[in-house]
Amino acid sequence: MTFDRSIKIAPSILAADFANFGAECEAIEAQGADWVHVDVMDGHFVPNISFGPATCAAIRPHIKGVMDVHLMIAPVDPYIDAFAAAGADVITAHVEATPHIHRTLQAIRAAGAKAGVALNPGTPAEAVAHLLDITDLICVMTVNPGFGGQKFIDMTDKIKTLRAMIGDRPIHIEIDGGVDVNTAASVAQAGADVLVAGSAVFRGGSVSDPAPYGTNIRAIREAAAGVYV
Ligand code: DX5
Ligand code: ZN
Repeated sequence: MTFDRSIKIAPSILAADFANFGAECEAIEAQGADWVHVDVMDGHFVPNISFGPATCAAIRPHIKGVMDVHLMIAPVDPYIDAFAAAGADVITAHVEATPHIHRTLQAIRAAGAKAGVALNPGTPAEAVAHLLDITDLICVMTVNPGFGGQKFIDMTDKIKTLRAMIGDRPIHIEIDGGVDVNTAASVAQAGADVLVAGSAVFRGGSVSDPAPYGTNIRAIREAAAGVYV
């Protein structure tokens, strides 16, 4: 994975057809997705259950680019090696989900993946102040995690604060939740470079009719570039 701050659209397969994950991953990449965002939920840290490392391993051969695994699980540490072995390029853990986030990020890097740290809407930017040198990605949640299709919560101030804290460090700022053509511009302008979008990408399409995925991805990318601002 090379680092740059260009806008990357990362469709969340939480909004895909669960009976067709492999084909869905191939379809969104063919339609212009930059990363594939994989939401892992345990019914404990968040009030919903999605899937685990076996599913990640199964879809890995269907993803050419970056597999971005967002862990909404507690505990985190016992499962890091399993997600790394499943082929995750990025593994993101929540600061709220583990008592020793510094150790967790070290363990993710030791397992060979990029280390991401996620912040719930109620968690301040300062929570990562002492993590910047062991972090490759900061995920700013713009919904409370657990479900797709929720209303965007404005975190512009937090994104700007994080962007200033990061300085020249090669750390991505990822936005997750409620990203669509109406919200992409504000988060991109505030300093985000990875935009996760579930419902706004998969809306209107399917593996047998994937063209709407491309239309949706282009619209979000253009909105982020300020075309519709
Ligand atoms: C929320 C997940 C998100 C979510 C995004 O817990 O982490 O990735 O599925 O979906 P939308 O774009 O529909 O809000
Ligand atoms: Zn996510």
